[in-house]
Amino acid sequence: MEKKAIVLSGIRPTGNLHLGNYFGAVKNFVKMQDTNECFFFIADYHMLTTHPNPKDLQGNVRQVVIEYLAAGLDPEKATIYLQSDLPETAELYLFLNMNAYKGELERVTTFKEKARKQPDNINAGLLTYPTLMAADILIHRSHLVPVGKDQEQHLEMTRTFARRFNRMYKTDFFPIPRAFNFSDKLVKIPGLDGSGKMGKSEGEGNAVFLAEDPASIRKKVMRAVTDAGPTEMNQTKPEPIQNLFDLMAVVSKPDTVEYFDDQYNKCTIRYGDLKKQLAEDIIAFTGPFRERIIELTADTDYVNNVIEMGAEKARASGVPTVRGVREIIGFRKIY
Ligand code: TRP
Repeated sequence: MEKKAIVLSGIRPTGNLHLGNYFGAVKNFVKMQDTNECFFFIADYHMLTTHPNPKDLQGNVRQVVIEYLAAGLDPEKATIYLQSDLPETAELYLFLNMNAYKGELERVTTFKEKARKQPDNINAGLLTYPTLMAADILIHRSHLVPVGKDQEQHLEMTRTFARRFNRMYKTDFFPIPRAFNFSDKLVKIPGLDGSGKMGKSEGEGNAVFLAEDPASIRKKVMRAVTDAGPTEMNQTKPEPIQNLFDLMAVVSKPDTVEYFDDQYNKCTIRYGDLKKQLAEDIIAFTGPFRERIIELTADTDYVNNVIEMGAEKARASGVPTVRGVREIIGFRKIY
């Protein structure tokens, strides 16, 4: 029987899940857990590179776990765990750092960006972010890593580090992982501020969260950027208007989209009506997620169990890898 490809992805524990995260990543994670052996973890070590004093670390991490569960990740199918619950990751990171060079690390785009953003805290963890990420991936000897465009350079470094290790120790211990990019198949999820994609760094009001209450969703959608309206029949829609239609395309019924499209083309559209409808359709879409989030938040024992079970499964997969690496390098067998 052919072995299933091992899939792994890391999640930054910053903020709440929004529709952009859902359609851009999580929805695909949920699909992949049925066909592959999947590991999804919360990158809480990585967080220290930019947030050395996290407020309520456990609470934030827990919230992320809850929202991913609510979005459909299934702890029986996938391994959902906290990076810090597999501390052997840190030992693998140490080994990988010995064969990672300052020059190549300094050339990484995300490093340069973050160094510019936090000039008073250009710590070694920031520089070696890619080796920690490589350790995350290689510790489960993963094959596929679903990531966005912004992470592709990191993944290329992981491939370099894996090949380098294999060459250095004359082994084929690490499979060379591949970036798994579903972005070309994805619908674009724009934000509400008229341009670009949905994101939480784009400012309050741009993103709609899965946990958001109906009143707040209505308010945000009603404030979304529009224009003075079409002046010619069948004209192309400017970006802010197309964005609202793109959002509608993922949450509303095809008839609804068609109706408003028609109204636009006939220059009879009323943006107020469009937004009201869009808000209600978003609310209907996010409602079940929000309910699950509320339920899971109340079910402390269940969430604790999920975290504990994830830690066990992650260790069962990761510890033998690091043991193997220790053996290959020549360290004593201690675990
Ligand atoms: N760097 C990733 C991000 O910022 C998070 C991450 C950490 C990750 N380790 C990973 C993603 C391993 C994929 C694989 O989104």
